[in-house]
Amino acid sequence: MTSRPETAGKLPLTDLVGMKRRRDPIVMVTAYDFPSGRIADAAGVDIVLVGDSAAMTVLGNESTVPATMAEMVMLTRAVARGARRPLVVADMPFGSFQVSDEEAVRNGVHFLKEAGADAVKVEGAGSTVSRVLALVGAGIPVMGHIGLTPQSATMLGGFRAQGRTAAKARELLEDALTLEHAGSFAIVLEAVPSPVAARITEALSIPTIGIGSGGGVDGQVLVYHDLLGLYDGKSPRFVKRYAELATTIQDALERYAADVRSGAFPEDEHTYSIRDGELAAFLSGSTAE
Ligand code: KIV
Repeated sequence: MTSRPETAGKLPLTDLVGMKRRRDPIVMVTAYDFPSGRIADAAGVDIVLVGDSAAMTVLGNESTVPATMAEMVMLTRAVARGARRPLVVADMPFGSFQVSDEEAVRNGVHFLKEAGADAVKVEGAGSTVSRVLALVGAGIPVMGHIGLTPQSATMLGGFRAQGRTAAKARELLEDALTLEHAGSFAIVLEAVPSPVAARITEALSIPTIGIGSGGGVDGQVLVYHDLLGLYDGKSPRFVKRYAELATTIQDALERYAADVRSGAFPEDEHTYSIRDGELAAFLSGSTAE
C-alpha cells in the first residue's frame, strides 16, 4: 500500500500543474459530507469533488438536474470541515450558472465564502466559456468538465461516451483548449475514448482528470458511492468497486436488529452505573446526600 507523506495545510492549487509535469497522478474522489471528506483526507486524496452526483447518490433523485444551490452549499460546507489538505471543489448545479455571468459569479462567491470551497466545477464549453472567464476574473478557480456532461445528458442522447467520431473528438479538443485559455485550472474528461483523452491531455498545459477516459490523463476521479459499493443503482462500466460497503452495512444492521430483538444488546458494558446508595434512595423516593 502506498500513501502520501503528511503535509501541513492545504494542497496549493498551483501544485497541480507540477504534478502533471512530473507525471505524478492526481487522485480525485467525490464526497458529500463531513465523514467522507475526512476519510478522503486521511487516505491522501488530492482533490475532493462535492459532485452534483449527490442529487442521485445521497438525495435519491433520478439525475443530477434537481440539485439546488442550497443543497450543494450545505454538502460542501460539511465536506470542507472534514477535508483539510485536499482541494475542495464544489460542483455548480444545473441552473446556478446557465442564466448569466453575474449569477454564475454570485453563486461561485457563495461556494467560496459560505461553503468553504477552494474552487468550483462547471459543465460544458460553448456558453460556459463566458462563465469561466467571469468566474476566473472574479478570482474563483474553475475546473472544467467536458465529454459526458450529466447535466445535459438528455441533449447528448443519454449517458453515453462522447468524442467517438473524428469530428466530435476534434470538437472536444477545441473545447478543452478554449477552457484552458479561459483560465480553467483543470478539466474533467468524462466517458471519452482513451486515445482521444490522451491526445487532449498532451495538448493542454493544465491537468486533465479522467472518469471513464482511460489511463492517458493526468488524474482520475470516481464517485465515492460507486467505488465503495454504497450505491445500488446501475454503475457505469468504468467504475471499479474497491469495497462492497452496502452489503457490510446491511449485515451489521441486521445483526444489530437481531440483537435488539433477542435482548443480546445492550450488555452491561454498554450501560452506565449508579452508586448503590443513590439507587436505593432513588428507588425509595428520597434524596441521598
Ligand atoms: O458530479 C460528479 O460526481 C461529477 C463527477 C462524475 C466528475 O461531476
